[in-house]
Amino acid sequence: MAAEIRENKCVVLKTRPGVESQPNDSNFALEKREVPPCNEGEILVKTLYLSVDPYMRCRMNEETGSSYLTPWPLGDPPTGGGVGQVIQSKSNNFKEGDIVESIVWPWQELVVFSGENPRLVKEESPYLCLKPSLLLGIVGITGLTSYTGIREKAHINSGSNQAMVISGAAGACGMAAGQIAKLDGCGMVIGICGTDEKCNYLTEELNFDFAINYKTTKDIAKQIQTLCPAGIDVYFDNVGGEISNEVIRCMNQNSHIVLCGQISVYNKDVPYPPLLPADIQTILSNKNITRDRFLVLNYMEKFPDAKKQLEAWVREGKVKNRETVVEGLENTGRAFVAMMSGGNIGKQVVRVADLTQ
Ligand SMILES: NC(=O)c1ccc[n+]([C@@H]2O[C@H](COP(=O)([O-])OP(=O)(O)OC[C@H]3O[C@@H](n4cnc5c(N)ncnc54)[C@H](OP(=O)(O)O)[C@@H]3O)[C@@H](O)[C@H]2O)c1
Repeated sequence: MAAEIRENKCVVLKTRPGVESQPNDSNFALEKREVPPCNEGEILVKTLYLSVDPYMRCRMNEETGSSYLTPWPLGDPPTGGGVGQVIQSKSNNFKEGDIVESIVWPWQELVVFSGENPRLVKEESPYLCLKPSLLLGIVGITGLTSYTGIREKAHINSGSNQAMVISGAAGACGMAAGQIAKLDGCGMVIGICGTDEKCNYLTEELNFDFAINYKTTKDIAKQIQTLCPAGIDVYFDNVGGEISNEVIRCMNQNSHIVLCGQISVYNKDVPYPPLLPADIQTILSNKNITRDRFLVLNYMEKFPDAKKQLEAWVREGKVKNRETVVEGLENTGRAFVAMMSGGNIGKQVVRVADLTQ
């Protein structure tokens, strides 16, 4: 089969949006290239799903502003999370049909990997092999981010009736964080997100106690205080900016922020994490609120156990999953742009090809 394939579609980064602008579809272009040869020790893989993620916005810039992220080169396919199926193997480590994943997956239909590539992981769980998109979301990096963020930084004590606020709550990390916090014994979970449909999803499907639409709520701090007069003990922050300032105004003495991300400033030329306004910084100091930098990739030794737990919760129905699926490799740039402006509920993925059973 592999020998008959001549053409390989890929999406390349055509232009950079500029550090102070929103990305748009025209930053990306579809190209047709030759299928790379699969040499001894290599495997040819068809891409099944690609992940589009907020951190990619930094990789569109000439300088990412981050020591662990390199800029995407112009004219090349961007790389990010991907999962695929081996269609030809010249490596002893893989066989045809294997499901493999990597966080350095190029946006193209067919990819040749070295069979020794340390960042290429063969999936062993039969359940996940049949549902490969889960490996990019709830049982992949975003689920692991929420899990480790909560376990390492949230200080949830089951039974002590803590209240938690989550911003970006209906996105991939947010929806997982709320459900994990409840499973870990958090008393009340309030989600903040950008549409009424998302709010309803959080309270009706995911068992969040309350949800606030930040686009239609004039005074977010007042709304939080009304819903939770005892104050907030944990804030899982996906967005930063004014929403976070409002939440911090409601936080209790010795409370904790999980500094997951700051998507509201990713289209701005500011350092990460961005400086807080002086009055908000004063609240942090006076109330002894922790706000440590958090990067999921610093906890890789915890991934195997965390992944097993997430898979078990999903299989048992204790954690619900939702994906927004865009069809077709050619729409990967569009999917990224849509996710950056709130087009997704749950994890945004791109479906590139069907699994061969
Ligand atoms: N620390 C880590 O290791 C780590 C790892 C993975 C992800 N992250 C971070 O986690 C956060 C969430 O990532 P994700 O993959 O789960 O993405 P996501 O939440 O699934 O998608 C992004 C969401 O952000 C919201 N948003 C966009 N612009 C916004 C703005 N100006 N103000 C408020 N909300 C805005 C949109 O929802 P609305 O409709 O609600 O606006 C959009 O759906 C990001 O900040 C990301 O960088 C961190």
